[in-house]
Amino acid sequence: MDDVFILGIESSCDETAAAVVRSGGEVVSNVVYSQIATHQPYGGVVPELASREHLRAIVPVVRKALEDAHQTYESLDALAVTKGPGLAGALLVGLSYAKALAFALEKPLIGVNHLEGHIHAVLLEERRNDKHPNSRKTGASWGPRYNRQLQFPVLALVVSGGHTHLFLAERQADAWTYHDVGHTRDDAAGEAFDKVAKLLELGYPGGPLIDFLSTHGDPRAVKFPFAQIKHPDRNPQNRHGKDELRTDFSYSGIKTAVLRYVETHDLRTSIAQRRRVLAHLASPSPHDVLAACDPPTLDLVASFQRAMVNDLVSKTLAAAREHDAATVLVTGGVAANSELRTAFQSAAAEEGLPVHFPSRKLSTDNAAMIAAAAYPRFLAGEFADSELSADAGLKLR
Ligand code: KG4
Ligand code: ZN
Repeated sequence: MDDVFILGIESSCDETAAAVVRSGGEVVSNVVYSQIATHQPYGGVVPELASREHLRAIVPVVRKALEDAHQTYESLDALAVTKGPGLAGALLVGLSYAKALAFALEKPLIGVNHLEGHIHAVLLEERRNDKHPNSRKTGASWGPRYNRQLQFPVLALVVSGGHTHLFLAERQADAWTYHDVGHTRDDAAGEAFDKVAKLLELGYPGGPLIDFLSTHGDPRAVKFPFAQIKHPDRNPQNRHGKDELRTDFSYSGIKTAVLRYVETHDLRTSIAQRRRVLAHLASPSPHDVLAACDPPTLDLVASFQRAMVNDLVSKTLAAAREHDAATVLVTGGVAANSELRTAFQSAAAEEGLPVHFPSRKLSTDNAAMIAAAAYPRFLAGEFADSELSADAGLKLR
């Protein structure tokens, strides 16, 4: 089969992104317009502002992705767009634009689940590795038989600002299916990073800042115990047959524990002082934030991160044992975390379990992962019809 060029479009949260991916395995262009500056003053994403920013950015971002890829609208083989889950208004911008474009160009359109996109961010790079070295010599293009080295069953941890999910993934021919074997009962892991950063007046988004600051504190200073969740989810919608095999997460308690620590250890004054210092800087760098943190705050931050990492790693590996997983994938914004990556690598190595991450750039939201996830659907001829709509609560199956 000839090379297949798919234009991916992503607008589910606070990144307007477009990318061109060749045959599901090579990122030809990857443009991400981040709205961080817009949402920073609020310490979190404001949905209404996100939709407006997407509307402003979508046309130039797509144009840039085509230019960088040396492609034209006409030379594309298909378009792919995130249909959910995410913020409804934000999703609608990318979706309406992609639908109009596909209709005008008479090209096929593929609707992609954002979580499947995160999983394919890892697979994309696995496929790309597969391509070397023979394809260069032979000019062979991508076929459906990628990922030969991936051992099944695959357990995927999708861990981001909006999601903390464990999926058992299977592949039959070109089609991937997913079974939800665990998820957070309340806050997502990335949300906990962001909320703790907001509480401590560190800045937004919290994950990358806490990642950086943690290397300057003592991770053993504060103990945060996590509950093992064994009782079934009360929400019947979230029940999936064998509840005893589920591995659920809960991250709203740790935020409250950090707040309690702040109050009992008199950290309020230090937080207020940091707010004043950082308010005078137009755009504080991580080093500015570090300079505004005292040792007890840095110890608290490092201990919080250690607790989050230990919980994510131990629960994921327990689920891998429970389901006899042969490979673990870790993806989503929090997968960019340095400590999480090293902890996973060493704990999984002890169990002889391969663990794969996307590169840091593809861990956070991007459209290359959407175009990559669309490729197997393109091969299977699974195209969207004119009814395609955004689904804020879309489940992955
Ligand atoms: O995947 P993503 O870009 O968007 C969602 O789908 O949610 O993830 C964003 C989340 C934010 O909560 C951000 O704080 C977190 O990922 N994040 C990190 C790191 N980089 C981004 N969390 C921990 N450590 C990081 N280095
Ligand atoms: Zn995401």
